Amino acid sequence: MSENNQVAIITGAGSGIGRASSIKLAENGATVVLVDYNAQSGEETLQMIKDKGGNGIFVQADVSKSEDVQNYVNKAVEAYGRIDFFYNNAGVVQKFNRLADIEEAEFDRLVAVNLKGCFLGMKYVLQVMDRQGSGHILNTASTAGIRSEHSASVYSATKHGVVGMTKSAALEYVKRGIRINAILPGAVKTALTAGVMKSFQEGGYVPEEVSNVRMGRPAEPEEIANVVAFMASPASSYMTGSLVNVDGGLTL
Ligand SMILES: NC(=O)c1ccc[n+]([C@@H]2O[C@H](COP(=O)([O-])OP(=O)(O)OC[C@H]3O[C@@H](n4cnc5c(N)ncnc54)[C@H](O)[C@@H]3O)[C@@H](O)[C@H]2O)c1
Repeated sequence: MSENNQVAIITGAGSGIGRASSIKLAENGATVVLVDYNAQSGEETLQMIKDKGGNGIFVQADVSKSEDVQNYVNKAVEAYGRIDFFYNNAGVVQKFNRLADIEEAEFDRLVAVNLKGCFLGMKYVLQVMDRQGSGHILNTASTAGIRSEHSASVYSATKHGVVGMTKSAALEYVKRGIRINAILPGAVKTALTAGVMKSFQEGGYVPEEVSNVRMGRPAEPEEIANVVAFMASPASSYMTGSLVNVDGGLTL
C-alpha cells in the first residue's frame, strides 16, 4: 500500500495520532505539510520524518483561526501545487465535568478548535480540491461522536458535529471526485488521554467506558496511524461518508 507522490496535509501533527500518522504517511511516500499550534513539537515531527528520508514542511497555525487556516492551505499549494489528502485531525479535550458545571469559556474553546477548526480546514481545502476535481479528506471524530460520554458532553457534541459535517459534505462532493470520511478512535495513548485521566482522578470519577474497551487496553497512536494510511491509500477508493471506528471494541 503506497501513497507515492501524494501531497498530504496533517493537522495536530506535533503529537499523538497526528504525529504517528504524519510519520506513517511520509514512510509510505507522501510529501507532508505538517500543521500544529505548537511550533516546537511540529518541527520535531518534521525532523523525525526527514531523519527517515521523508519530505515536507511545517506550518504553524491555530486551526480555529481563519487566516491561519488559509495560510497553511496556501503554503501547501505554493510548495507542492496540489492537495491530495487532508487529515483534519487537531483537537482538544474538555475538563471532565457534568454539563451544568462546564464553564462557558470551555464550551467556546472546544467548539472553536474541534468544530470550527474542522469546518475551516474543510472549507479552504475543499476549494483547492474542487478546482483539482480530486481529493480525499479524513476528519478525526471520536467514538464520542456517535455515543454518549459521561462528563464530556461538550466534547461529545463537537465530535457529533464533526460526524454530521463529514456525512453532509461527503454527499455534496461525491459527484465532484472528492471523498470525505471520518475516523473514530476510542481510547488512544496520547497527551490528550493523559490529561483526561488526570481530569478523572481530580474529579474522583472514572467513567465505565474506560473499562469498556473490550480489548482491555488503549490503542497505541501507531494503531490509528495504520488505519489513516489505509484510508489515504487507493485501497479505500469506494469509501465516502464512512465512519471508521478504531476502538478496540469500545462501541460493542
Ligand atoms: N487520544 C484519544 O483517546 C482520542 C480518542 C478519540 C479521538 N481523539 C481525537 O484525535 C485527535 C488527536 O488527538 P491526540 O490524542 O493525538 O491528542 P494530542 O493532544 O496528543 O495531539 C493533538 C495535537 O493538536 C494540536 N492542537 C491542539 N489545538 C490546536 C489548534 N487550535 N491549532 C492547531 N493545533 C492544535 C496540539 O498542539 C497537539 O500537537 C483529536 O481530534 C482528538 O479529539 C483522540
